[in-house]
Amino acid sequence: MPSMNSNIGNVGRGFAAFLSPPPEGVVRFTVGQPNFRTPDSVVEAAKTALDDGEHGYTRSQGSEEICDTVAEHLTKYGIDADPNDVLISPGCKQALLYAMMTCLNPDDEVILFAPAWPSYDGMLKLIGAIPVHVPVKRENYHPDLEATKAAITPKTKAIIINSPNNPTGAVYLPSEIEELTKIAVENDLWIFDDMIYSDLVYSEHSYVSPATIAGGKERTLTIGGWSKIWAMTGWRLGWITGPSKVMEGVKTCQASAASHVPTFLMGAGALALELENEPKEFYEAFAERRDVFHSLLEDIDGINAPKPEGAFYILADISETGMDDIEFATRALEEARVQVVPGSLMPGGEGLIRMSYGTDLEQIKEGCKRLKEWLQS
Ligand SMILES: Cc1ncc(COP(=O)(O)O)c(C=O)c1O
Repeated sequence: MPSMNSNIGNVGRGFAAFLSPPPEGVVRFTVGQPNFRTPDSVVEAAKTALDDGEHGYTRSQGSEEICDTVAEHLTKYGIDADPNDVLISPGCKQALLYAMMTCLNPDDEVILFAPAWPSYDGMLKLIGAIPVHVPVKRENYHPDLEATKAAITPKTKAIIINSPNNPTGAVYLPSEIEELTKIAVENDLWIFDDMIYSDLVYSEHSYVSPATIAGGKERTLTIGGWSKIWAMTGWRLGWITGPSKVMEGVKTCQASAASHVPTFLMGAGALALELENEPKEFYEAFAERRDVFHSLLEDIDGINAPKPEGAFYILADISETGMDDIEFATRALEEARVQVVPGSLMPGGEGLIRMSYGTDLEQIKEGCKRLKEWLQS
């Protein structure tokens, strides 16, 4: 058999081992997906586009309509994007990969705040770049700026920011985004800003884009998508924008790889960004779940978690139970019939478990009851 790409063997599958559908009756806190239906008007728009014959190839970067709508949407965060420099990708994930393929060379180092969403690590390894995991502050999961500076070497090429964050639920302070941008400017680094949870913020400060900070615009690739805020995970729609020169490279990636996202989804995607009611309803449901979930966990001895500030995850320290996180997750599934993600699947996540509140309130209450009874026994 011929030899294979030697990077493939180093690339993990993230949470995959713990995401498999559990047996009937298990409370599932693992999946990072809202349990809402995509808004009806968006579904109807896609159906109409199919009926109207939108079946062929189209503009590779995405239709002018959807690129214009994304550029307009981004002005809400103060991001000034030229629609010509917006590309619609098959999910935020693919946009992240394009950003890395365009900006990085093998052996370049990239700073991640650990524990980080594991796909970043996988993508970096896939292209031969080196993830450098800088632990966040354990008390609130915010970036440790001194440790970040200390991790920079002549090989450092980029920083990945994801705020609101998966898996920690942290929303970085405006001053932290400013400091991180300053570090990037001083060391001439790219910033890959994954803003996929940008509207799911429950703390007082909102999402802040590094592209709005002095020196940030020319080095930031802003990457987001429809999956979380609009409950459209399966549609595989994401966006990316950044400096024109980089976007030319990103367009080359997409032209060579995917051509474009499905033609008949583009109008529906544009429509979603203009909706007000449904994203607001989803947000309010998440905010309520976060309050209930956190207060129920506070009542369980051995589980300690800072209150999430955004996204829809709680990252809890379970070390007081005397179990490590793999044992905790394995036994929680078998004995309490609750499925959680063990933190040590991510560097820096040892002793932690991630729980998603993409599920409904009844499940959250039932899951917490089971965890409490299990740990008490
Ligand atoms: C931080 C982060 N970025 C990106 C994604 C994936 O987004 P998409 O479904 O648009 O590819 C996820 C999904 O879990 C995520 O948590």
